[in-house]
Amino acid sequence: MSSGWFTDACIGALICATLIVAIRCWMEKRNMLPLPPGPRPFPIIGNVRGIDISAPWLTYTEWGKRYGDIVYSHFFDQEFIVINSEKVAIELLEKRSYNYSDRPNLPTTPLFGLDFSTVLMAYGVRWRRQRRIFHQAFREKAALTYRPMQQRKAQQFISGILDTPEEFLNHVHVYASSIIMSAIYDHETELHNDPLVEAVGKTLKLALEELRPEVAVFIKTFRILLRLPSWIPGMSIKKKGARSQELIRGWMNDPFQRVLTTMADGTARPSVVSNALRRIDGKDPSGEITQAIKETAAAAFGAASETTASVLQVFILAMVLFPEVQIKAHVLIDAVIGGSRLPTFEDRSSLQYIDAILRETLRWRPILPLSMPHASVNSDVCEGYYIPKGATVMPNVWAMTQNEHKYPNPSQFLPERFLNADGSLNEDTVDVTFGFGRRSCVGRHFADASLWIAMSGLLARFMFSKQSDSNGKVVDFEPQWSTGVAIHPLPFPFTISPRLSK
Ligand code: HEM
Repeated sequence: MSSGWFTDACIGALICATLIVAIRCWMEKRNMLPLPPGPRPFPIIGNVRGIDISAPWLTYTEWGKRYGDIVYSHFFDQEFIVINSEKVAIELLEKRSYNYSDRPNLPTTPLFGLDFSTVLMAYGVRWRRQRRIFHQAFREKAALTYRPMQQRKAQQFISGILDTPEEFLNHVHVYASSIIMSAIYDHETELHNDPLVEAVGKTLKLALEELRPEVAVFIKTFRILLRLPSWIPGMSIKKKGARSQELIRGWMNDPFQRVLTTMADGTARPSVVSNALRRIDGKDPSGEITQAIKETAAAAFGAASETTASVLQVFILAMVLFPEVQIKAHVLIDAVIGGSRLPTFEDRSSLQYIDAILRETLRWRPILPLSMPHASVNSDVCEGYYIPKGATVMPNVWAMTQNEHKYPNPSQFLPERFLNADGSLNEDTVDVTFGFGRRSCVGRHFADASLWIAMSGLLARFMFSKQSDSNGKVVDFEPQWSTGVAIHPLPFPFTISPRLSK
């Protein structure tokens, strides 16, 4: 391949991108309505520059302060609408969900083999089929059936930490993965080096770093780059994509096949997969529903494990940084339960402060600060501004949860924000952290229970605190964060001290 050919191709792509933007601008004028305000773009490339790549939600929040609740930007020919307020997010993504339930068409999704996933799929028949399976398994009432299993897993989680506290992070990942594996496949994961858990973890690590819309737009504009060999600097994404596809083939097929085998020999116990297969009772001539069940199961594992583990890591970070919250929780748990047992779901109504801690954890550092991007199916008008068809619509959940009018002093961890004067929980359930409208999180009730039972158990049994050096001086640290679509705190120094009896 000659370099002249490549230069010509790039120039061609740039000319096309310029033409598309010019035509769009002309069409906008014809419509006579202004686009939402936004930063001044650079010719052709648009607003790529000036964005904090490791934490774009911070840049978007600044834009929100300058330009308002709806901000327009474009990267090459892809148009972006950033929504910085809960009010506008509800107006567009919930009240007008018929027009905003699509997902952007990102070339990185098939590149990483993730086009089977409910989370990333375009709005349509295939998505609806999967969403129905999810709904049957995880709607509010159905989610209650998993509670005995979640309680048992939380006990194992706590015992594991008591035995090997130095492996805390591994215990968090095993807990988050094993509850969803149990619910979906009735599969008991290994405490160490479970091959499935490891394979999903590796895939998610690869994908979450690269699935940012900004990266995808670059590749979409210069699709031709995907023809270059993966050893060329900048093209390692191809190698990562191939590895991700290979990993997914394994973790999608193996556990599903195991359920089929146990169903055939009559030993299968209830699980999301076996229940869904029993419902169709072999009546699936095209195989489409069976395929949908297989894909839904794999999507659930991907969507549930990393999110749950990340929220638990944020929770520990908050407990270490805000010891007064932990002390208050200890006093309450000791008064309600004593030291002889772990909290159960029956205790939940007497431990509302733990619920307030859970809500504040979701709010304080949302693990999906830009939620998941939606896309507009048709053009629309909002607050007098023109929203173009096919725009990527990004709810800036960070801006919503750090809104100082709603949450004064937002960087402080204050569970009391979620309590009424009499100590009961108020109406604010931080719904924004679970997304919007028809695409909102289907695993929310399941996640809520997994988090509550783990957090209350951790608080009952342990004290998390900052480390001290050899002179007894407390080691202060500035939390660091992973980057990508979903974030979690990077490892930080802390100590775990057991409290009360086992
Ligand atoms: C604390 C844990 C969790 C958080 C913070 C979370 C958050 C989210 C968010 C923000 C979205 C995007 C919503 C939107 O596009 O508007 C989402 C989608 C989704 N979540 Fe969760 N999630 C969590 C746990 C789970 C669990 C446990 C499951 C499965 C049991 C799950 C399954 C899904 C699925 C399938 C979608 C895609 C929905 C669609 O596109 O139709 N999530 N989640």
